[in-house]
Amino acid sequence: MSVEVRYLSRGGNTKRLAEAVAKALDVRAKSVEEPVEGRADVVFLCASVYGGSPDKAVLNYVKQNARDIGRLVVLSTSASGKSTHTRLKAAAEDMGVQVSEAYFHCPGAFLMLHRGRPNAEDCAKAAAFARAQL
Ligand SMILES: Cc1cc2nc3c(=O)[nH]c(=O)nc-3n(C[C@H](O)[C@H](O)[C@H](O)COP(=O)(O)O)c2cc1C
Repeated sequence: MSVEVRYLSRGGNTKRLAEAVAKALDVRAKSVEEPVEGRADVVFLCASVYGGSPDKAVLNYVKQNARDIGRLVVLSTSASGKSTHTRLKAAAEDMGVQVSEAYFHCPGAFLMLHRGRPNAEDCAKAAAFARAQL
C-alpha cells in the first residue's frame, strides 16, 4: 500500500504533527506544495484552520491530485477546537476523492493559547491514529 503524508503549515505546528505521523509510517512528510509522485492509496492530509478554513493550497493540492488519491485521512490543529475535516471532506468529495469519516484533531498553539501544542503526547496520539487507518 502506498502512503503519503502531506501538510500545510504556516507556523510549524502542523508540520510537527505531520512529521510524527510520517515517522510512524516510515515515509517522509512533504508540503502540499511539493509535486506529487505517482498514485497514493492513502494520503494523510495535515491541514489546520486559518480564518475558519483550510488554507487554499490544501484545496489546490486535492484538486490537482484528485485522480491519484485513493483515500484522504485528515489531521488538523486549531486554536478553537474546530477541525478542517468537515470542510475538506465536502470539498474533496465534490472532486471525487474519498475521505475517511475518522479524523484526528488536537489544539495548536496560537498567540497566548495552547502553548507547546501539539506536544509529544499529541504527536504520539496522531501517530497511533494514523497507523490504525491503514
Ligand atoms: C493567520 C491565522 C489564522 C488562524 N485562524 C484560526 C481560526 O479561524 N480558528 C482557529 O481555531 N484557529 C485559527 N488559527 C490558529 C491555528 O489553527 C493554529 O495556530 C494552528 O496550530 C496553526 O498551525 P501551523 O503552525 O502549522 O500553521 C489561526 C492561525 C493563524 C496563524
